[in-house]
Amino acid sequence: MLNTIASMALLSVSAVVASPWGAPNGSQHGGPPGGYNHGHGTPPSGSGQVPFKFPLSNGFPNIKNPSAALTTIEQQAHGTLPNGALSPTLQDGDVTIFELIAFNELFEVAFFSSLLNNITSGVPGFEVGSSAVKTIVVNALTAVLAQEELHALGANGILSAAGQTPIEPCEYIFPSADFDSAIGFARTFTDVVLGTLQDALAGLAANGDTEYIPLIGSVIGQEGEQNGYYRTLLDLIPSELPFLTRSKAPFAFSVLNQAVVVNGSCPNANIINLPIFGALTVDTQNIQPKNQQLEFSFTNNGTDVNSISLVYINQQNLPVVEKPMIVSNKDNAVTFKAHFPFEKFIMNGLTIAVITNSAGPFSSADEVAAATLFGPGLVEIN
Ligand SMILES: *[C@@H]1O[C@H](CO)[C@@H](O)[C@H](O)[C@H]1NC(C)=O
Ligand SMILES: *[C@@H]1O[C@H](CO)[C@@H](O)[C@H](O)[C@H]1NC(C)=O
Ligand SMILES: *[C@@H]1O[C@H](CO)[C@@H](O)[C@H](O)[C@H]1NC(C)=O
Ligand SMILES: *[C@@H]1O[C@H](CO)[C@@H](O)[C@H](O)[C@H]1NC(C)=O
Repeated sequence: MLNTIASMALLSVSAVVASPWGAPNGSQHGGPPGGYNHGHGTPPSGSGQVPFKFPLSNGFPNIKNPSAALTTIEQQAHGTLPNGALSPTLQDGDVTIFELIAFNELFEVAFFSSLLNNITSGVPGFEVGSSAVKTIVVNALTAVLAQEELHALGANGILSAAGQTPIEPCEYIFPSADFDSAIGFARTFTDVVLGTLQDALAGLAANGDTEYIPLIGSVIGQEGEQNGYYRTLLDLIPSELPFLTRSKAPFAFSVLNQAVVVNGSCPNANIINLPIFGALTVDTQNIQPKNQQLEFSFTNNGTDVNSISLVYINQQNLPVVEKPMIVSNKDNAVTFKAHFPFEKFIMNGLTIAVITNSAGPFSSADEVAAATLFGPGLVEIN
């Protein structure tokens, strides 16, 4: 009931947004027109935004275990880091999994820290209804922030216990300029996390570090709880799909680097053994739940555009392959349209769109990632 009040107190929120991460139009904060996915490797500079930098006022990410600072975070998080022994070894592929989790969770800490600070310090656009509603939202996000701090410390702790180097935070910019677009953005990156942690489970099972599978399962549920809240604030039904969209580690790593990481600001993200694809921008705005042509663009780098395919990954279904129809192609700036078969597959929730070097057919997201050149473009419907 209180959520309904909170939700009603918000400005009306577009239920369906396009552009990278679903940030409305992607240019409300003085960034480049068309959003932050334009121009691989060049996102944040030029956005006019002051980058977010660590450490937080509590010292995070430099938190010792045990310490008074950790205990304070745990109290805010309503619970503790797991207190069992950590494995002294990790398979190589699983090192990459926990490096990516740490890399992502550090970004999430930055984001929620910035959001909470904007709400509590009264940044214009971040006003949240009545003081009662504001208290509920601030309480929820305070717990989320501390929980994300523990997720990041937990992943880095697993790396350290296995003799690996912890991931250090970068500087970040965020494609949100008000409360509504921030929650919309949180909803989209949480969708990507929920898909990518499926990949973590598959990797841990295949590589053999099965002792961490229940831990990752617990985090998937936790992020799902968060997303139900964000969706409710956006006037969407809490549960997005019967089976959430599958993602792959390289998609998550690429979009974080393309959209939120300040280029060149990461002390040691280069040790993460994952590719960063060229960016793919979804240009169509306000995508409706129906069959349609979607427009995309990317900056080409020597690829023969006649040989590329556009692939959609949605839910746990087989990847959908479409032939791009080139709209324009000059000076490496390529714009194309592709059919989006919403109705046949009921493509609600997150759809991951990528450009591949082959038309498949693809039997899995793994096969799609192995053939990806540009992406991901993120489409959110309902
Ligand atoms: C994008 O901008 C246009 C014009 O500035 C506006 O009409 C439209 O509602 C915006 N779309 C979103 C999703 O905010
Ligand atoms: C972004 O970083 C890459 C790799 O560090 C570098 O090659 C590229 O020139 C940078 N781009 C900008 C715009 O700074
Ligand atoms: C917080 O406000 C600043 C200044 O308006 C903005 O640049 C930043 O994106 C906001 N943070 C979030 C998480 O929306
Ligand atoms: C462009 O292509 C060259 C040669 O294949 C490659 O080394 C480089 O990484 C590519 N750059 C981007 C931004 O994809």
